[in-house]
Amino acid sequence: MEDFWSSDSVLKHDLDLVREQIRNTVDQSHGFIKSLLKGHVNSGGKMLRPALVLISSRLGNQDSRFDAIKVASILEMVHLASLIHDDILDMALTRRGLPTLYAKVGAKQAVLAGDYLLSKAMALVGDSKGDLKASAVANAFGRLCESELDQDAAQGDFFISKPTYIRRIAGKTAALFALSCYAGAATTKAELTDQYRMHRFGYAFGMSFQIQDDILDYVGNENDLGKQTGRDLQCGIPTIPLILALAEERKNNSNRPLAALLTDKGRQMNNKDTAKAVRMVVDLGGIEKSSHMCDVYRERALADLSLLSNTEVSSTLRSLFIKLIDRPS
Ligand code: FPP
Ligand code: MG
Repeated sequence: MEDFWSSDSVLKHDLDLVREQIRNTVDQSHGFIKSLLKGHVNSGGKMLRPALVLISSRLGNQDSRFDAIKVASILEMVHLASLIHDDILDMALTRRGLPTLYAKVGAKQAVLAGDYLLSKAMALVGDSKGDLKASAVANAFGRLCESELDQDAAQGDFFISKPTYIRRIAGKTAALFALSCYAGAATTKAELTDQYRMHRFGYAFGMSFQIQDDILDYVGNENDLGKQTGRDLQCGIPTIPLILALAEERKNNSNRPLAALLTDKGRQMNNKDTAKAVRMVVDLGGIEKSSHMCDVYRERALADLSLLSNTEVSSTLRSLFIKLIDRPS
């Protein structure tokens, strides 16, 4: 992932400063927690959320650039904390091909280490920066937790509606993307219309990103993903390809074999059942229909970008968006 940002040397440099800020923050932790967190914060993610903060901060006053680096570090630390917690909920043993904190130290210590990282991020928020208010940051984190709670409480219920799914991914993913895009512009006190547009862009970006991720869970290349396909189904998590496939089946087929398979097996689906369900979802057009839905958010995101006052920022974000949303696997 080191090379992902190589075409933008300023951004690459600023992301190094974000990594340094996070490392310094973790280094100030109690010895035992420090050793737990060190591997986790260096695990080589793309740093997408901080990059969005930094690019959007170019819309405003560059005297506040260093505040934007701090805000970018806060959002990345919260994202990392949420992944620690997510791996516990999913009982995931690996992430990006590396052992999770949950796998290394178990749920009790991992949940506390995640909380600790979150508290360190909160300590950096301090006073509001530019137009960015701590309450905007806290609200997005609240949405993250609400959506994960909702998803967990209904785990194993495959028959949810499209609006329920949309609400879930809006909270789980789009809220933090929207916050990241807005936070950079707010920190450097960009024009208010640009701040709003960045928020809308981030929301549509997050929605298309999550839909694409959910499509890849069905049809992605397992080597590139670093995880098995069909994992959402096996974890009892219904996503948009399944929801749209079930709707299609309801319309056309009186037997409804996919619904019957899910009802029979529930959360006890073995690898063979999962592979069968994945094939049915594909055959019922679940992937194609989900891609159309992704395209709707894609168009919305690009429309908001085209209205930004700074064409250089708009073109940088456009290239990034296309690179990520059109990712092959
Ligand atoms: C990964 O999505 C998970 C998230 C985007 C959010 C997780 C949030 C929580 C656990 C709430 C706790 C929040 C804080 C602020 C500590 P995914 O499960 O769809 O993707 P994956 O395949 O990467 O696991
Ligand atoms: Mg997960």
